[in-house]
Amino acid sequence: MDKFLIKGPSKVKGIVNISGSKNAALPILASTILFDKPVILENLPRVKDIDTMINLLKSLGSKIEFFGNKKTVKISKTNKTKYLASYYSVKTMRAGVLVLGPMIAKYHKSITSFPGGCVLNGKSGRPINFHLNALKKLGMKYEIKKGYIFAKSKGKLKGNLIKFPKISVGATENLIMAACFAIGKTVLKNCAIEPEIKDLVNFLRSAGAKIKWVGKRTCEIIGVNSLKETKYSVMGDRIEAGTFCIASTLTKGDLLIKNFNPKIIQTELNFLKKVGAKIDIFKNQIHIKGPKKIKSINNILTKEYPGFPTDLQAQFMVLLCRADGRSTITEKIFQSRFIHVMELQRLGAKINIKNNKAIIEGNRKFIGAELMSSDLRASAALVLAAMAAKDKSIISRVYHIDRGYERIEKKLKKIGVNIRRIS
Ligand code: UD1
Repeated sequence: MDKFLIKGPSKVKGIVNISGSKNAALPILASTILFDKPVILENLPRVKDIDTMINLLKSLGSKIEFFGNKKTVKISKTNKTKYLASYYSVKTMRAGVLVLGPMIAKYHKSITSFPGGCVLNGKSGRPINFHLNALKKLGMKYEIKKGYIFAKSKGKLKGNLIKFPKISVGATENLIMAACFAIGKTVLKNCAIEPEIKDLVNFLRSAGAKIKWVGKRTCEIIGVNSLKETKYSVMGDRIEAGTFCIASTLTKGDLLIKNFNPKIIQTELNFLKKVGAKIDIFKNQIHIKGPKKIKSINNILTKEYPGFPTDLQAQFMVLLCRADGRSTITEKIFQSRFIHVMELQRLGAKINIKNNKAIIEGNRKFIGAELMSSDLRASAALVLAAMAAKDKSIISRVYHIDRGYERIEKKLKKIGVNIRRIS
């Protein structure tokens, strides 16, 4: 298992190119199940979760051809369709469940393993009841046996009015994909409106799907019989961009961060300005300089988009450990997403957790230590913390970070971080 050896403290300077968004590419890849015609996708991030999804599609009978730098892929249908998304294919990735909606819509049957992915929510786990209940309203019948969802429908799904009980990114995506082929009109209310969902919708529309937003969180879909051939470029990754913004702010750095739309990280940029970062926004890039002194902030709440993303909570916490006073972060999406706190404490952080609130004492000096990654975004936080720490840190289990950040050590090395991957 690979580890990172990081010698701090670092000061980042230079240019970073942001990769394609993992969380946009995953549902887009899943939705290719709906197609008979070939699809070309560009700007795919070369991360482990994408390999997992590609392998899952192969196991379901899709033909996969990569081009050039493996960031462009052509996906076509073969006549060897399978309906089983096995435990083996989805155990490391939550997004595996996103094949359920398209499979039911297209083939009216599917056997899908319960998904894996990051353990973010303690004992409550990461249920998929919203996905299942909503698909049921479109006519899917299912049974859960031995860790699998055995699902089928009597022919085509039928459009319906669905109001999600709580905003869910995955459930919104699954239902948008399923409704593309449902007879008549489907209205989805209380949808998640993350930019990655908008990207999925734009992709499906480019192939002739009839989807429109009719209110802030309401989406209307008229079923069609088929989708046309299409070529689409996946949006830039806002979480990777946010992570590099934090790196610059944390290390008194000076970064030009390119290839993503700064408008979609307005909330994050406002918080970074509040802690003292100097930011210039351009089309598809930003210039961000870290302050001499990081200011504390009270009560950041993680929320559904356009709120502050839970996927940047751990990384932002590192920044606040170095602020000039006490800060707090309340986690509203995954109530117990605080596994990184224990590891940050090894470096010298002082953080108290009260229910879903983290109270972060500032002015902490970090000293390098041995650390263990526990999940994708937490491991990015550990990398940032090790960059800010004096002396050497070793981070183990970096396979977590490889799931969602494209060769982060290469990008960091290029901007001056003393980081090495040890196999
Ligand atoms: C997606 C993202 C993940 C991000 C999360 C929240 C991908 C591949 N993953 O995950 O990186 O952290 O959004 O922005 O895009 N819930 C239920 N029942 C359900 C579904 C969700 O109770 O059927 C709960 C979850 O436990 C959680 C909340 O709803 O508390 C939001 O989860 P959701 O938006 O569905 O997250 P994911 O789609 O899993």
